[in-house]
Amino acid sequence: MSPTRAGDAADRIIIFDTTLRDGEQSPGATMSFEGKLEVAALLDAMGVDVIEAGFPIASIGDFEAVTAIAKQTKGATVAGLARAIEGDISRCGEAVRHAKRPRIHTFVSTSPIHLAHQMMKSEAEVLEIIARTVGQARNLVPDVEWSAMDATRTSLDYLCRCVEAAIRAGATTINLPDTVGFATPAEYEAMFRSVRERVPGADRAIFSTHCHDDLGLAVANSLAGLAGGARQVECTINGLGERAGNAALEEIVMALRTRRDALPYACGVDNTMLTRASKLVSAVASFPVQHNKAIVGRNAFAHESGIHQDGVLKHALTYEIMTPESVGVAKTSLVMGKHSGRAAFRDKLRELGFALGENAFQDAFVRFKALADRKRIVYDEDIEALVDDEIGHAHERIKVTSLDVHAGTAGPQTAAITLDVDGAPRAFKATGNGPVDAIFNAIVALVPHNGTLDLYQVHAVTQGTDAQAEVTVRLSEGETQVSARGADPDTLVASARAYVAALNKLRAKRGKIRYDTPAG
Ligand code: KIV
Ligand code: ZN
Repeated sequence: MSPTRAGDAADRIIIFDTTLRDGEQSPGATMSFEGKLEVAALLDAMGVDVIEAGFPIASIGDFEAVTAIAKQTKGATVAGLARAIEGDISRCGEAVRHAKRPRIHTFVSTSPIHLAHQMMKSEAEVLEIIARTVGQARNLVPDVEWSAMDATRTSLDYLCRCVEAAIRAGATTINLPDTVGFATPAEYEAMFRSVRERVPGADRAIFSTHCHDDLGLAVANSLAGLAGGARQVECTINGLGERAGNAALEEIVMALRTRRDALPYACGVDNTMLTRASKLVSAVASFPVQHNKAIVGRNAFAHESGIHQDGVLKHALTYEIMTPESVGVAKTSLVMGKHSGRAAFRDKLRELGFALGENAFQDAFVRFKALADRKRIVYDEDIEALVDDEIGHAHERIKVTSLDVHAGTAGPQTAAITLDVDGAPRAFKATGNGPVDAIFNAIVALVPHNGTLDLYQVHAVTQGTDAQAEVTVRLSEGETQVSARGADPDTLVASARAYVAALNKLRAKRGKIRYDTPAG
C-alpha cells in the first residue's frame, strides 16, 4: 500500500513526522499520553503522510501511546521505531498492527565509529543483522522502513551493501540519516544519487532524508536529499529533536510551497494548520518556540523597521514572501473581555484553531471568566496560554488545589499548599528564601523526589502589570530531564502549577530506555 495519501506521482513528497519520537528525545520535551494523542490527531488532520508515534519498547507508556495512535489515526501511516533487535521489532509490530496503514521502522548503525565503539560488531555481522531483522519486520507488516544510522559518516561502498541487504530482505523505505548533523547539502545530495545509482533494486524502495540541525543545515540538507532522488522527508514540528533538533516540518512545507519554481515537488500538508500545530506541540512538550523561528515564531511576520512597515502597508509582498494567513495566523477580530459569553468564547477558540471537547471547553470558559474579571482586555495570547495550560494539565495525577503565600519584607516567606495526589488531598506549609522557594519546598515535602531544579523562568504573556505569567520549570533526575509550564495571572500560582507539571512528567519518564543503545 502506498504511504502517500494521494497516489505515487514522481514528484510527490512523503512528509514523515517524527515529533512524537525524535522530537520527544529532545531534552525536557516529554509529552503526556493525552498530549501525544492530540498532536497525532492534528498531524493526521493536516495531511501528514506518516506519523512516527513513538518507540514501543522504550516503556509501557510509549507502547500504549503508539497503540492508541494506531487505533485513532484515519488517514496517515502510523510508524513505530525499533532497534535491530528481535524483541523490539515484535513489540513494535504489536503496537502498530492496529493502524489502517502500519509501518515498522527499524534501524542499525553503519558507520565505522559506531560499529567499533558503540556496537562492537564487524561489518559482516551488521549485514547479517540487517537481513535478519528487516526480514522479521517484513513478516509482520508489508510496510518496513530501514535506517542506516550515521549514514553520512559511512563509506559509500559499505552503505550500498547495507542498503542492498535491506531491500533484498523486504524494506520498502530506505532512510539515510544525517544522525549527527555533519553533512553539507552537496554531500547529502551526492550520497542519495550514488546509492540509488549503485544499489541493485534501489528503484523498489522509496528513499528518505532524516537530518539533524547541529550545523543549522537540517532543512537545506533535506531539500538537497530531494534533489538527489529522496521522496520522503523526516521532520518535526518546531524542529524539535535530539540536541539542536531535526529539520522543521513547517520550514520544509513552506519552502516547497513558496519556491515551487525551484523545488518542483508536491506535498499533501495543509499549510494553514502549521501555526496551530506549532502552538499545540509547544504546549504539550512545554518547549517554547524562539521568537525569530522561521514560519511559526512570534516575529516571523512582524516588521519593526520604518522602511519595512512602510513597504508592507503599501503592498504586503514588498517585504513578505508568504502571507501570515497562509500559515494559519488569524487576523484578530473579536476583542474579549468580561462581558463576552460562551458563544463569543467558542468563536474565538475556533478562530485560534482550538477544537476542545465539551468538558474541556467548559473548564476553559470558567478560567476565561476568572481571568476576564481580573484583566480589562483578554488578548489572543492570554487565551492561548490559558487553553494550552488547560490541555497540558488536564490529565495530570498531581494537581494544585490551593495555595496561600505570605511574602514581603517582614518574613519569613511561607507557602501553604494543598495538592491532589492520585485523588487524595495532601497539605503542607513550608518556609523558604522567598515565596517561590517556599512553594517549591512545600511541594517537595508532599512529593519527595531526587530531581534538581535546572531552570526557573518567568515570562509575561502580554504587556501590563495585569499580564498573565507563564512560568517554565526544568527538572533533572539522573539522565532524565523534563520541562513544564504553568500559566496564571498570579506568578506564584503559575510557578506552583509549572513545578507540579514537571513532577508529573518526571514520574511519567522514569524507567524509560533510550533508543541509542546498540542493536543485538
Ligand atoms: O537520527 C537518527 O539516525 C535517527 C534514527 C533512529 C532514524 O533518529
Ligand atoms: Zn534522528
